[in-house]
Amino acid sequence: FAFSKNKNNMDFQLTEEHQQIREMARTFTQNVLKPGVIDRDRDMIHPTEFLKQMGELGFMGMMVDPKYGGVGMDTVSYCIAMEEISKLDASCSVAMSVNNSLVCWGLEAYGTEEQKQKYLTPLAKGEKLGAFALSEPEAGSDATSQKTTAEDKGDYYLLNGTKNWITNGGKADTYLVIAQTHPEKGHKGINVLIVEKGMPGFEIGAKEDKLGIRASDTHSLLFTDVKVPKENRIGEDGFGFKFAMKTLEGGRIGIAAQALGIAAGAYELAVEYSKVRKAFGTEISNHQIIQFKLADMATQIEAARLLVYKAAWLKDQHKDYAVASATAKLFASEVAMRTTTEAVQIHGGYGYVKEYHVERLMRDAKITQIYEGTSEVQRIVISRGVLSGKTLD
Ligand code: CAA
Repeated sequence: FAFSKNKNNMDFQLTEEHQQIREMARTFTQNVLKPGVIDRDRDMIHPTEFLKQMGELGFMGMMVDPKYGGVGMDTVSYCIAMEEISKLDASCSVAMSVNNSLVCWGLEAYGTEEQKQKYLTPLAKGEKLGAFALSEPEAGSDATSQKTTAEDKGDYYLLNGTKNWITNGGKADTYLVIAQTHPEKGHKGINVLIVEKGMPGFEIGAKEDKLGIRASDTHSLLFTDVKVPKENRIGEDGFGFKFAMKTLEGGRIGIAAQALGIAAGAYELAVEYSKVRKAFGTEISNHQIIQFKLADMATQIEAARLLVYKAAWLKDQHKDYAVASATAKLFASEVAMRTTTEAVQIHGGYGYVKEYHVERLMRDAKITQIYEGTSEVQRIVISRGVLSGKTLD
């Protein structure tokens, strides 16, 4: 179900366009991504070529205006595509999510015309890949405590510091880097700079060997006296922290859709398996213990889907979606953990080996409770919203 983009009243009907996107993403996932997904996960092989193909299909700049190389679709469409791809390959979908909702959206919403022409267009077409560099060794959830500095040197910034756990870190071409320019002003002194791979003094650090989303490329980034031209700053001086918060509001919808997809993928595998696996003289789907597990999984997934699509719809309606996106991410990521764990349980011993895909989905699910704000951060955002009188309407 989804909320139609052109109506303000409740409508749970998917539009024809939404259905086509679902079909396209499903076909691509099954035909192109599925064959090597287990090997890519085991050997940490980045899906570089597949991301290029996803660019050609329009998946890397889904919400970007066609005049900047995107396909101009709504956020609901983006969530549908994220959900389908994440059912099987969350490593691919996180690269897609960062490119779409953090980098492209941030540039389109706040960039200058020149920045859009130069940086947004190739990113939206999938010719180039973007990364979003906010997290630091000591600034994860506490994002205002940026230690990376962007010293104002007149016509350029001198960038120094380290970023950690950066998705697309080694493979990206364009990086949005958050850094402190005026420490005395706290979060109001933070800027966001567009940094290109290859700028002197910019080095890619160690690649992380992760529990899940292993084919996704996660690195630290090291900046030593990198000269970043002033025209590469996005927004006014000191806008960097608000930029990060606004961008993450939308990013959380994408990650919520990823969590939903991981849950739905594991659930679909569990349903299929329960109909063929026999135990105690019958298919296990005939045992009430399995039926009740499937019922719980289906119920939670449907609830998560409604929250995700609603947050996307609010964004498309240009309404406040900060609390809705945090709520969707919090709930969908918890559903992803519960559902994938149950899917492994239903598969028994088979669920614990790579061939059956569910163990990978269970490992992939965990990161959705951590990145783009931990579950604790989502609770901070939601509780502040609730206490200040905001509702989900
Ligand atoms: N929109 C606009 N402004 C916002 C905002 C929002 N959604 N949220 C906060 N702000 C503003 C506040 O209004 C405040 O400004 P004023 O002083 O002018 O009022 C300022 O930002 C500071 O806000 P807080 O006082 O609320 O800041 P805080 O220190 O209490 O932290 C937080 C709030 C929600 C915990 C925030 O730090 C946060 O979101 N942390 C998590 C960061 C995060 O998500 N990191 C993910 C990294 S990216 C990633 O993971 C990508 C990937 O690899 C997949």
